[in-house]
Amino acid sequence: MMNDIDRILYSKEKLEEIVSGLGKQISEDYADRNLLMISILKGSVVFMADLMRSITIPCEIDFMATSSYGNGTKTSGTVRILKDLDRDVRDYDILLVEDILDSGKTLNYLMDVLYARNPSSIRICTLFDKPERREVDIKADYKGISVPDEFIVGYGLDYAEKYRNLPFIGVLKKEIYE
Ligand code: IMP
Ligand code: MG
Repeated sequence: MMNDIDRILYSKEKLEEIVSGLGKQISEDYADRNLLMISILKGSVVFMADLMRSITIPCEIDFMATSSYGNGTKTSGTVRILKDLDRDVRDYDILLVEDILDSGKTLNYLMDVLYARNPSSIRICTLFDKPERREVDIKADYKGISVPDEFIVGYGLDYAEKYRNLPFIGVLKKEIYE
């Protein structure tokens, strides 16, 4: 697995530092709210697991799964819901937890779907952001760090469903996906 990695971009320790900073901020901002963290499967599952443990206020969690990428490295542009929430989100303050904000199409679509269900509020928390790749007008309310326009894997992020179990963020060698 390591042979497919060009270089390590963020170590386990660096990721811990970024995630605990986000958790602290979210704990302050949502202190008197009704926080529901929604993890967008599968990429955000590692981030979600660490982020929720750095949150010090009561919260609930749920999961949604979407599909748009297939096995490629670029979005197909069509978003489908593969798994929906278990609950009615009315009266909840939703925090969408995403691994990486790229074209923005996935979150844009999910925001529309969830707004129609009348929650108290919706915000976005993304660990990584690739702002120069944005195709729709969407911004994260909480952002871990902006990353260069390279395909990254590890800490939940995949290429063709692999590499999610790497504990760090690495840049995938171009020859793997070209
Ligand atoms: P968007 O709809 O283009 O913003 O898609 C975001 C999704 O694309 C993320 O949740 C990831 O699953 C995937 N993605 C985008 N860039 C990368 C990357 O560099 N590595 C791994 N997955 C990525
Ligand atoms: Mg993915």
